[in-house]
Amino acid sequence: MREYFKVDPWNIIEEGLDKDYNEVSESAMSIGNGHMGCRGNFEEYYSGKSLQGTYIAGVYYPDKTRVGWWKNGYPEYFAKVLNGANFIGIDVYLNGTRLDLNKYLVEDFKRVLNMQEGYLLRTFKVTVDGNKYEVEAKRFFSMAKKEVAAIRYSVKPLDAESTIQYNPFIDADVRNKDSNYDEMFWTAIEHSSSTDVSSIVTETKKTGFRIAVAMCNELSKDTPSSHKGEELFVSNTYEATVAQGEALTLTKYIAVTTNRDLDNDNIKATAEAIVKDAKSTGFDALFTSHQEAWARLWEESDIIIEGDDAAQQGIRFNIYHLKQTYTGDDSRLNIGPKGFTGEKYGGSTYWDTEAYCIPFFLSTAPEHITKQLLIYRYNQLDKAKENAAKLGLEGALYPMVTMNGEECHNEWEITFEEIHRNGAIAYAIFNYVRYTNDKDYLAEYGFDVLVEISRFWASRVHFNPRKDKYMMLGVTGPNEYENNINNNWYTNTMATWTMEYTLEAMDYLKAEHTDRYKELSSKLNIRDEEITKWQDIMDKMYYPVVEDLGVFEQQDGFMDKDLINVADLPEEHLPLNQKWSWDKILRSCFIKQADVLQGMYFFSDRYDFDTKKKNFDFYEPMTVHESSLSPCIHSILAAEIGYEDKAVEMYVRTARLDLDNYNNDTEDGLHITSMAGTWMSVVQGFGGLKVTNDMLTLNPFIPKAWDSFSFRVTFRNRILNVKVDNEGTTIDLLKGEPLTLVIYNKEVNVAKDTVLISK
Ligand code: BGC
Repeated sequence: MREYFKVDPWNIIEEGLDKDYNEVSESAMSIGNGHMGCRGNFEEYYSGKSLQGTYIAGVYYPDKTRVGWWKNGYPEYFAKVLNGANFIGIDVYLNGTRLDLNKYLVEDFKRVLNMQEGYLLRTFKVTVDGNKYEVEAKRFFSMAKKEVAAIRYSVKPLDAESTIQYNPFIDADVRNKDSNYDEMFWTAIEHSSSTDVSSIVTETKKTGFRIAVAMCNELSKDTPSSHKGEELFVSNTYEATVAQGEALTLTKYIAVTTNRDLDNDNIKATAEAIVKDAKSTGFDALFTSHQEAWARLWEESDIIIEGDDAAQQGIRFNIYHLKQTYTGDDSRLNIGPKGFTGEKYGGSTYWDTEAYCIPFFLSTAPEHITKQLLIYRYNQLDKAKENAAKLGLEGALYPMVTMNGEECHNEWEITFEEIHRNGAIAYAIFNYVRYTNDKDYLAEYGFDVLVEISRFWASRVHFNPRKDKYMMLGVTGPNEYENNINNNWYTNTMATWTMEYTLEAMDYLKAEHTDRYKELSSKLNIRDEEITKWQDIMDKMYYPVVEDLGVFEQQDGFMDKDLINVADLPEEHLPLNQKWSWDKILRSCFIKQADVLQGMYFFSDRYDFDTKKKNFDFYEPMTVHESSLSPCIHSILAAEIGYEDKAVEMYVRTARLDLDNYNNDTEDGLHITSMAGTWMSVVQGFGGLKVTNDMLTLNPFIPKAWDSFSFRVTFRNRILNVKVDNEGTTIDLLKGEPLTLVIYNKEVNVAKDTVLISK
């Protein structure tokens, strides 16, 4: 852990260039706009440590699977998030010497990510061949026009008149650092260069994604320019003699189009037209619309923490990255664990989306945004059915990791066994409908998915006549530190809950959408005997319990383990995943992330206070929280059972995970999906936000170190501001019709005026 960035409520600030830490800074300073994004790399050439990364949403490459021992059923490939053409580059020559911050004396270096307005600013002084220069670079990826990015780069000679040369370029000769076979994933299609507009079109091998990147440049001083074009590299050159104290500014406009949105024949011309248009609009006007778009996003989602600037910065950092990763305007996209900040993980979709990101988007964005995430899975239902069939099972098994619906994870204990993910997909439908009251979603899309997931569970369990119970063997629960276990309480619970909810949805459709139900029933071929079977499974499912302790047993045999608390382990043993052999981890009782407790969180209304407390007291001390998804769930449950200090401890661990590089892995990219968990810790944990009995419910408490905190929530076409301080909770209805909500167990009507409720 390292507190490297300066604490500030709206900015991530790096002062002084720590070259060894540059890759961490690059991850933290990534910017994007849902369509594309880029790490906080330098525009100019840099020979030091750097992970150059530019990513275009939905553009991936199926990198041939690499495993030690092939097993039937393994996917053929692992979908890699692709590093695309570097279009932010500007090579700079000062009196003929190439600028390289790794080589020359750098002073007053400052790199700032402004989260409020979504831009990256870099300022520094550099001495090259005895002359000092002042440099400023600002860039943004437009939130108002998704294809557009712009950079303003200026150099001012401080000591003497100098010749400054700018070579803005597009470099499509890029590779993924994590490529399995060190392959180049791109083929050159065409390029053109001119002093007006230059562009490159490339295509991914195998997947055929075509990308056109076009640039237009503008210099603050009238000067002749030249251009250069090669297959995978185009550039323009501008050179001017600049007086001491005068700045020479280059503005680089970029447009990126893909054949995901346009025909192959149109992408180049469209990118060129958009970039020319961007140039004629101008940097400032483009930036103003971008700023306005960010202002709207913050209006829906900001959290203000008074009295703790580090916590304030942490939460905004998480919200900012989530909002720039997913904008919800394309149902083919999802939220990758690293977003636009790095290559690691590949794939774009994990159960993280349903379990963590959906609650965030439900409460911080209009409902159609979350709906897109659900439709993404609906559109991949056929692939999920194929996936189940490949394993010899019925119904649909959604992949653990995917880009296009096909599984691309290749560790057998995860791919074949970590099937609880299917439950999260059903749960997300329930969660969306409960939160938005958009029950029509069930008739339109949701029911098909629920039925096929229920079918999967029904074929994955088996009946044990000796015990008169259904069992589910050979699974991996959310705790990936146990594999091939039997009767994981959480997975068994998700299975029967899915069937129960599917039957509930069926009753609703029969009553309220009779014709549509008939249509669906015949399309899905719903048979009476299968419904009877689901009912039987629901009645006779086996759930391991430890009667004397009053807790659910994580899986069969858990109680036979050597039960030790993490606090009793010598510190040098942690983190286990770096210090212990895998075999030792599997045999131990230590838990990677919430497992039984994940179930307590999902089905909070089903378990009483005492049950939650007993299970928390039993499992949390054995949990090492080595998944970034872990602390948030524990923080929420701790808040619910009145363990306020524990809730805060867990919150701190999640909120500044990447900013302070807790897990020593931020250089690979940020933990985007767990950022939604951080938001959940504040709003669902400290704010106690839930929907119970069809009503928005709050039960806030304020962490001791904070003076107040407030958050915005979108709920059924309304936006509310909830402010919690030591006097109580103040609710403001910012948009929409009055509503009744439950706060501190009391029903309260909220109309336009501020309402203060004391605890
Ligand atoms: C966690 C999974 C998660 C994945 C991607 C793993 O470390 O155990 O639950 O889906 O990371 O975030």
